[in-house]
Amino acid sequence: MTTDPRTMDKIVSLSKRRGFIYPSSEIYGGLASAWDYGPLGVELKNRVARFWWREMTQLHDNIVGLDASILMHPTVWKASGHVDNFADLMVEDTVTNERYRWDHLTEEQREAKTSPNGNPLSEPRVFNLMFSTHLGPVQDSSSTVYLRPETAQGIYVNFKNVVQTSRVKIPFGIAQIGKAFRNEIVTKNFIFRTVEFEQMEMQYFVHPSEDEKWFSTWKAARMEYYESLGIRPERLRFTEHGPDELAHYAKTAYDIEYEFPFGWQELEGIHNRTDYDLSRHGEFSGKDLTYLDDQSRERFIPYIIETSAGLTRSVLMVLCDAYDEEEVGEGDVRTVLHLHPRIAPVTVAVLPLVKKDGLAERAREIERELRDDYATFYDQGGAIGRRYRRQDEIGTPYCVTIDYETMEKDTVTIRYRDSMEQERIAVADLANHVRSSIKSYKRAAL
Ligand code: GLY
Repeated sequence: MTTDPRTMDKIVSLSKRRGFIYPSSEIYGGLASAWDYGPLGVELKNRVARFWWREMTQLHDNIVGLDASILMHPTVWKASGHVDNFADLMVEDTVTNERYRWDHLTEEQREAKTSPNGNPLSEPRVFNLMFSTHLGPVQDSSSTVYLRPETAQGIYVNFKNVVQTSRVKIPFGIAQIGKAFRNEIVTKNFIFRTVEFEQMEMQYFVHPSEDEKWFSTWKAARMEYYESLGIRPERLRFTEHGPDELAHYAKTAYDIEYEFPFGWQELEGIHNRTDYDLSRHGEFSGKDLTYLDDQSRERFIPYIIETSAGLTRSVLMVLCDAYDEEEVGEGDVRTVLHLHPRIAPVTVAVLPLVKKDGLAERAREIERELRDDYATFYDQGGAIGRRYRRQDEIGTPYCVTIDYETMEKDTVTIRYRDSMEQERIAVADLANHVRSSIKSYKRAAL
C-alpha cells in the first residue's frame, strides 16, 4: 500500500475535491510547483505548525520563538556560504532541453553523458538555488537581495539579541516557522518539493564539548515527535549523510525519512552545524558573537544543533499516512483520514439526526457551546450515514449526533472516526470528554 503511486493520485484528487490544496493560479492554467491551501488545507497546515510549535517551545523551559523577515542583508548569504556553495550541478538534454540534476543521473548516464531519454547532454554547469531580486528602484548588483533559502540564518543573526533580551542560558534553543525559497531544478510530487515552501526550524545552542550529546538527544526527540503525531513507525527511518553528501556547514547530519507513495524521502534534517555559522557571521559583521558563561566565566562560540523540518512536506506526509480506504460492509468502502485529533481541520462535527422537532435548533446550540474550545462544523444535510462519511473523508475525529433522546435526556451520541463506535454521553460532559479523548488519542495499528 505504501509505495503504490496510485495513492498519490487519490490524495491529490481528495485534496482538490475537499478543499485542502489547489493548483496555484488555476484559472490561468496553474504555475509549475506552486500550490494554494484551501479552507481545510490552511486549517491542517496551521495545526501541523501549531503541533510543532507546542512541542518545540511550549513544552520546553529553554526554547524561545522568533519570526525573522524573509529578506535579509545580502551579506548574510555570503557569510552563510550560500552565495558560494548553495548550488546544484545541472545538465540539459540537448534535444528536448529538459534539465536534470547531475547527481540525479545514474552512473551510466553520467559516464555516457546521455539523458534519461538517451540524448546527448550539455556540459554540467553550476546553478545557484537562491532566488534574487532587487530592493528599491535601482536594479544593479548593489541592490541585490535574496529570498531566504533557509529560515535558520534569521535565527543566527538574532542570536545576540535573544541572549541580551531574554533570560536564556546555554544550552538553549530558538525556534522559527516561516517561508523559504529555492529555485529547484526538479520540482515534483505535488507539494513535496516546491520552490516556495515552509520550514519549521529549531537551532539549539550548546557548549562545544557537548555537541555530540545534544545531537543524539535531538535526533531521538525528533523521531519521537513523529510518533506522537500518530505517524506509523514502520514508515519512518533515519539516514545518515555520507561525507560527500554533507552540506557545507555540517559536521554530522541525519535525515528523518518517511516512506511516501513515491518512495523514501526526507522530512527533516538534524545537523551538527558546529560553530560555523556564528563564526562566519562574527567575521563578516565584525560583531562579537561569543557567549559568556556567567558561572564559569568561559567565553566561547556556541555549537549549533539544528532540527530542520519541512512544514509543507509534513502536510503531505500526514495526508499520506492518514489516508485509507476501508471495507466497512459488503462492497462498501469508506475513504478515511486517520489524522491525529490535534491536527484535524475539524475536531467535532455536530449533526442533528433530522431537522424537525427542534433537533436542528438544539444541535446549533450545542455546536455554539463547543466552538469556544474546538474547531466545529455543523451539518444538517442528507442521510446521517452520508454525513459521517463526509467527515471521515476529511479526518474529523468526532461526530456528535443530536436525536430524540437528546430532547428528553440531554444526552448525545459521539461517534469515533477510527473505530466507528458510538457512545452515549451527557451534553454537560461533552467538552471534557472530547478533551480527554484528544489527550489519550493513540492511533490503532493498521
Ligand atoms: N536549515 C537547513 C536546511 O534548510 O536544510
